[in-house]
Amino acid sequence: MPRVSSAFFLVAALCGLAGMAWGTHMGMSGDHSLSPAHAHLNLLGWVTLSIMGGFYALSPRSGWLPWANLVLSATGAILMGVLLPQVLTGKMSGKVMMPAEAPAILGMLLFITAVVTGLRRPSGG
Ligand code: HEM
Ligand code: HEM
Repeated sequence: MPRVSSAFFLVAALCGLAGMAWGTHMGMSGDHSLSPAHAHLNLLGWVTLSIMGGFYALSPRSGWLPWANLVLSATGAILMGVLLPQVLTGKMSGKVMMPAEAPAILGMLLFITAVVTGLRRPSGG
């Protein structure tokens, strides 16, 4: 497996572990007020990064693009988990989410670029 895929899966699993610990804490405390932050740490971290890591394992490509995709998408997922609680608890306005949303969206745009490049130069028929 390409190193970038292992790195995607490592960050994904760490997000998943943190998200599960967070979910377990919500379940035990009965306070679900931060559940959207838990949800998006899992969905952008565990789910999205795993899908991307799987893609690069099935369709390896060299160069900076997969690593830039990882840095941007991982930054978006982690900042989502850190910043969203500030908004949900009313400490900050929704505008503070931009530093999480921008890298998440840019990461997805790089992923689309990788997929389209693969469509134009298929490796396996
Ligand atoms: C040990 C694992 C987990 C525990 C204990 C847990 C626990 C919870 C709890 C207590 C809530 C709040 C439910 C509510 O207020 O209705 C919640 C919401 C949510 N969780 Fe988890 N969770 C876990 C893993 C995951 C994973 C792996 C994902 C995604 C891949 C996920 C996605 C979500 C989503 C999307 C919501 C929001 C649901 C909604 O708005 O109705 N969770 N979780
Ligand atoms: C930049 C990325 C994203 C942004 C800015 C975003 C934003 C939002 C917002 C504003 C809501 C409504 C929350 C509420 O009413 O409390 C929401 C809900 C939801 N989103 Fe996202 N989202 C993003 C990525 C994703 C991804 C990648 C997934 C799935 C893989 C996802 C799945 C969901 C689900 C299941 C809900 C309903 C559960 C909940 O309320 O927490 N989102 N999202």
